[in-house]
Amino acid sequence: MLTKIRACVFDAYGTLFDVSAAAARTFEGLGAVAGPLAALWRERQLQYSWLRALQGRYVPFWQVTGEALDYALEVLGLPQDAALHARLMRHYRALDAFPEVPQILESLRARGFQTAILSNGSPDMLDGAVAAAGIGKWLDAVISVDDVATFKPDRRVYQLALDRLGVAADATAFISSNAWDAHAASAFGMRVVWCNRGNLPRERLPGEPDEQINSLRELPTLLSAD
Ligand code: LAC
Repeated sequence: MLTKIRACVFDAYGTLFDVSAAAARTFEGLGAVAGPLAALWRERQLQYSWLRALQGRYVPFWQVTGEALDYALEVLGLPQDAALHARLMRHYRALDAFPEVPQILESLRARGFQTAILSNGSPDMLDGAVAAAGIGKWLDAVISVDDVATFKPDRRVYQLALDRLGVAADATAFISSNAWDAHAASAFGMRVVWCNRGNLPRERLPGEPDEQINSLRELPTLLSAD
């Protein structure tokens, strides 16, 4: 149980929004390659963001996502076709939220917690996904790394959420399904719930998530304002 919590800060992709091919109309028609494409695309998207952060060569996540897609298409022998690229990129502006998300956000807000997204996503990507999922009314803030021009797990990103919401790290519950992100937020000093949707083993990284759940449905019972 995490006590004395004021704010709930959520990762976006994989945590609130389902980026898997299984959830996506976008991947229709690609047959058996859809799964490997979604996985490789996501893997390279993250790797490119980490590498650019290390090199101090920030560009918006939209560009990183497009470059990762081009790489994944080539590896899998798919055409470097502008129409296909555009169709797949639109995926990121119209993602499905996981089914439990609207009700969980609504219940957290009703209990007085601040709610926010803290994401690598560019502001326009996040605005599109939030609007498509219809969850904007339950969010106090949608915070993009674009304001500090680097990516997670740079500690300036986690600090940005505290500054924006006016909360202390130890009064902030950070929720991510990306284990590396959960560990980084914990090492930074936030209280962390790892939404381990894939039943993965714990990462061997600095930090230690305080709680582990398999879907966001279990989240409200773990948080207390007292
Ligand atoms: C994000 C990625 C890490 O939303 O999922 O920041």
